[in-house]
Amino acid sequence: MAETDDYKDEIQRLKKRLADVESQSEESPLDTSKFEKQLPSPEATDKATDRKIDAALGTSQKSIVSSERGVGEYAERPSGPVGLDVGTSNVVMAQNKGSKIQMVKQLNAFFTIPQSKFTKKILEQNGVMFFELEGQYYIIGFSAEDFANLFNANTRRPVEKGLLSSKENEGIKIIQAIIGTIIQKPKKFGELICFSVPGEPIEGTAFVAGHESIIKKYLEGMGYTPISINEGLAVVMSEMVDDNFTGIGISMGGGMCNVCLSYLSVPVITFSIQKGGDFIDTMVSHDVGISATKVKGIKEETLDLSVLPTNRIETSLHMHYLDLIHTLIYSIKRVISASDRVPRIADPIPIVLSGGTAMPKGCRESFEMALKQTRLPVDISSVRLAKEPLNTTAKGALVMAVTEA
Ligand SMILES: Nc1ncnc2c1ncn2[C@@H]1O[C@H](COP(=O)(O)OP(=O)(O)O)[C@@H](O)[C@H]1O
Ligand SMILES: [Mg+2]
Repeated sequence: MAETDDYKDEIQRLKKRLADVESQSEESPLDTSKFEKQLPSPEATDKATDRKIDAALGTSQKSIVSSERGVGEYAERPSGPVGLDVGTSNVVMAQNKGSKIQMVKQLNAFFTIPQSKFTKKILEQNGVMFFELEGQYYIIGFSAEDFANLFNANTRRPVEKGLLSSKENEGIKIIQAIIGTIIQKPKKFGELICFSVPGEPIEGTAFVAGHESIIKKYLEGMGYTPISINEGLAVVMSEMVDDNFTGIGISMGGGMCNVCLSYLSVPVITFSIQKGGDFIDTMVSHDVGISATKVKGIKEETLDLSVLPTNRIETSLHMHYLDLIHTLIYSIKRVISASDRVPRIADPIPIVLSGGTAMPKGCRESFEMALKQTRLPVDISSVRLAKEPLNTTAKGALVMAVTEA
């Protein structure tokens, strides 16, 4: 009973904090220009949409065969267009393989150990993926997680909060090496690859263009023709074929959440918040005093947001989930309200949630409930969960690659 009371207190505190945030930011007008995209002419949109629907239909109806890049397996040389999700937690590659879509996933993480001849031999013999830099071995991908567990430490990330620092050499080398474990150069030179990029963060300043150009250059160097797709739009391309690609696509990932309001496949508004699953892990870890890695494990294995929490960890997880969901909905309201670009859409539009952080039982329902308390400037017809939340972005990027090829 005491736990439930705690929970109620926490909810009250959260509500108060959200109300405070809301009243503060109502005074400061938001400059939405960096979140807005220019709308093309209506004729162009019609033609583009027809073409996209045909190509997208073919790809989006295929079933997915998904695997993790195993130790000692080699990257493949794709033939045909490629979709690439460069997320904060995972890098996922998608390609058409006959009647199916093949997905390969790699953990976007690394772990360093000191160099020695002996270690090198062992790593090589065991097919562990690594490279050498300044006296250290950088172990990358899922292998990094194994090593971190072995040393009872945490893995590190080249992409924190969704963006690669253009100043940091180490980060660039690592992300290249990680992408390199899932794709090599294409069979046909100049093959189209579509990779996901985050939207401009709503809070603070970040350099999305720098992040994008680094990945673009790397893929070009491998022999691809790279194009980018906003992560939220990728969700729309993957999940809204039957909605004329009109709606709000949301990707709730590790380091950030990405939002795109799309009208007939045109991204009208895109933005991100630099909070996601990692934020929840860190906050709960502070609250209850266990490591963030442990929290992540409990969250992924057992969290059910549709029932009342029964202990301190669950209470804290529920709290910070609600915080994230409210922050997200409030940002959507704030950006759309401040923008004068939003087209008048006659019918209510759907919202699709994707990404690992949208996966716990009850997350969609919690989002729907929070939405009822906040009136958005656009009418929402439904809140759906993507079919395969961890593969949605890569699939959307593939759909885009296919339509542009
Ligand atoms: N079943 C699950 N329940 C809750 N969270 C999950 C689950 N599976 C993965 N996650 C969380 O999702 C996040 C990663 O999601 P992902 O969409 O791959 O992120 P990104 O786009 O940032 O790479 C991590 O915070 C991870 O803990
Ligand atoms: Mg993602």
